[in-house]
Amino acid sequence: MNIRPLVATEQNQTDIDKIEALENAEQDFPWSRKIIESCFGPRYQNFGIFENDNLLGYLVSDCIAGEANLMNICIAKSHRRQGLAEKLLTEMFSQIQAKNADTVWLEVRESNLAAINLYEKLGFNQISIRPKYYPTKEGSNEDAVIMSLMLFS
Ligand SMILES: CC(C)(COP(=O)(O)OP(=O)(O)OC[C@H]1O[C@@H](n2cnc3c(N)ncnc32)[C@H](O)[C@@H]1OP(=O)(O)O)[C@@H](O)C(=O)NCCC(=O)NCCS
Repeated sequence: MNIRPLVATEQNQTDIDKIEALENAEQDFPWSRKIIESCFGPRYQNFGIFENDNLLGYLVSDCIAGEANLMNICIAKSHRRQGLAEKLLTEMFSQIQAKNADTVWLEVRESNLAAINLYEKLGFNQISIRPKYYPTKEGSNEDAVIMSLMLFS
């Protein structure tokens, strides 16, 4: 397995194709291709974890003025609970520290205990709640938990 930055250019959309396929297969609320495409550019730090050419998981983050935001992270169901998300986040932390970022922010559904456990394991703290932020499959809404992590080099 190897981790590398994800790339997208007009000529090379291969990584975007792979992210889109993973999103549609693995996420309850998949990002559209348009959203995925919008998350490439100088301020983004996106990484994929690959086995040969197969994308097993990826994360999208951005970094502005010393603060990073984790915007998405997803691991294929067949490869969960093997430490892949931890590996991707650890790679992101070291890359953004090199850009002098000292804080990471994220938002997560309050029902997403797998993700909340992951973030707490890595040292994130719950900061506040954004009430009824996310739509649910049942047609209602659920709260977003806002979490942050201070990085110290
Ligand atoms: C959340 C997600 C990214 C975790 O990926 P993963 O590769 O399985 O996570 P890891 O194997 O690195 O797990 C690291 C820690 O996270 C926690 N964790 C991960 N999955 C968990 C689960 N299903 N239940 C409880 N805790 C879990 C555990 O603390 C785990 O450490 P441990 O294995 O020593 O107990 C994955 O479940 C996923 O892709 N979910 C769908 C997308 C999603 O919800 N993304 C988050 C959006 S905010």
